[in-house]
Amino acid sequence: MTLFEKLRCLFTFGQGVALPLPAIDQNADPFSLFELWFDDANKSGILLPEAVSVSSVSESGQPSSRMVLLKEFDTDGFVFYTNYASRKSNELNANDKVALLFHWNVLQRQIRIEGCVERVSAEQSAKYFHSRDRGSQIGAWASKQSSKIQTENELAESVDYYTKKFANKDVPLPEFWGGWRVKPNYIEFWQGRASRLHDRVCFEKSAATWENFKLQP
Ligand SMILES: Cc1cc2nc3c(=O)[nH]c(=O)nc-3n(C[C@H](O)[C@H](O)[C@H](O)COP(=O)(O)O)c2cc1C
Repeated sequence: MTLFEKLRCLFTFGQGVALPLPAIDQNADPFSLFELWFDDANKSGILLPEAVSVSSVSESGQPSSRMVLLKEFDTDGFVFYTNYASRKSNELNANDKVALLFHWNVLQRQIRIEGCVERVSAEQSAKYFHSRDRGSQIGAWASKQSSKIQTENELAESVDYYTKKFANKDVPLPEFWGGWRVKPNYIEFWQGRASRLHDRVCFEKSAATWENFKLQP
């Protein structure tokens, strides 16, 4: 982090405590507020403001969480990219219910998102895949994400294999890799306030419209 970024971080810290959430219109949708807060997080100097926890649930009902990076969002949902044969993807294939959690500590803000997932199109995944650096593209081919490592060199050997296989060629999108779109039905914005009297504004989707309400902290 540069000195400038550190200063920006210090300057931003605690601002939300002093500033309550703006009044939310009854017909508001949550995406404009998400965009505003995501923009604030990007400007705050936080490292990886797009880092978000994703929780899936196993067939036996065991929840599990891990961090991913949010790569795209719009009113259709929130997109992250991963291996479609990973633990998370296997769980999401069997049970499409999912939860996301952002926490931006210097802003004293969290956003909870609940909904269902769908795969993004292969075209959209390919577009993102080809925007990544070559090393990450080879890495996606080489890693059998979430599988047990059997021998010490197998990952390095796999990287070697795909580096040679795709030498002097574009690295194609693996069919086992792509994006998941989280289509939200619940989004809660949490703003830390003094004396633990935090603001919680929730949006719930019923049919095609969003209703909002506040919760006790
Ligand atoms: C900040 C951060 C960002 C990450 N971003 C991604 C990501 O975008 N996609 C991904 O597959 N894994 C990402 N990971 C790794 C995951 O947390 C996790 O280790 C991996 O996806 C395997 O999870 P699974 O075995 O539960 O499927 C990230 C980890 C961290 C700490």
